[in-house]
Amino acid sequence: MIHVRINGKLLEAKKGETVLQLAQRNGYHIPNLCYHPSLKADGACRMCLVEVKGANAKPNSLTTACTLTVKEGMEVLLDTPEVSKHRNTILEMLMALVPDSPVLTKMAEEYGLKEIRLAQGDEVCIKCGLCVRICDEVVGAKALAMEGRGTETTFNPPFNEPPERCVACTSCAFICPVQCIPVKKTNDSITIWGREFDRLKCTRCGRALDLTEEHMALMMTRSSHLKPEDLNVCDVCSRKEVLGTMKSLVDGQITLERVGK
Ligand code: SF4
Ligand code: SF4
Ligand code: FES
Repeated sequence: MIHVRINGKLLEAKKGETVLQLAQRNGYHIPNLCYHPSLKADGACRMCLVEVKGANAKPNSLTTACTLTVKEGMEVLLDTPEVSKHRNTILEMLMALVPDSPVLTKMAEEYGLKEIRLAQGDEVCIKCGLCVRICDEVVGAKALAMEGRGTETTFNPPFNEPPERCVACTSCAFICPVQCIPVKKTNDSITIWGREFDRLKCTRCGRALDLTEEHMALMMTRSSHLKPEDLNVCDVCSRKEVLGTMKSLVDGQITLERVGK
């Protein structure tokens, strides 16, 4: 076990965990916009700044908690005047870039940021990169890319232009911390990044699935165990099938060998 103090309290940290993970595990809140537990930390938004002492840290060293791995003897302070000043500067820059975000407005209220002194833009995206990372690391479509850092970051293809490799899984829209990727669903289609995809239908009951032909094809290339029939049945029909199989087992109409267990 590694011993780390957060705001003076001695905590036991796990090897390899980050200060953000340790803090969250122990009930401390550190604001963050570009962190997600299922993705590699990137340190893009810098909202999770903390002050670090001990464990060879420079005096008054500010660093991002999501990328900082715990070390024996480390002391972390979450709410010093320095942390607050730098965090509010970052928040102010984000709010100048994206003035109409309810998520940022709520954060500004929470952290006492009263005034935006910078020229205001009219963007909707804070360029945190979460959408790019989930599409790459989890979905595997690699449909989105970003170039540059900070406010100079640009999307490739440009924001709202249909990415060629997109399969309409909608994970990027789901993970976006400021909810700025519009998704439109009808019974027959999913529209995302300005491109409309057909929804597949359950092969048993005809209900619309949250799945497109393109997404199914991608999943099949990523797992040799998956078959189309594992994917193109809705939850209701799948549950009915499981219940039917259980009943038949209980009634003795079929055996475990027949259901392939
Ligand atoms: S909807 Fe398209 S761009 Fe978004 S994560 Fe899925 S494949 Fe990638
Ligand atoms: S679209 Fe959303 S997730 Fe993607 S970079 Fe912009 S704010 Fe982040
Ligand atoms: S959450 Fe740590 S830099 Fe964004």
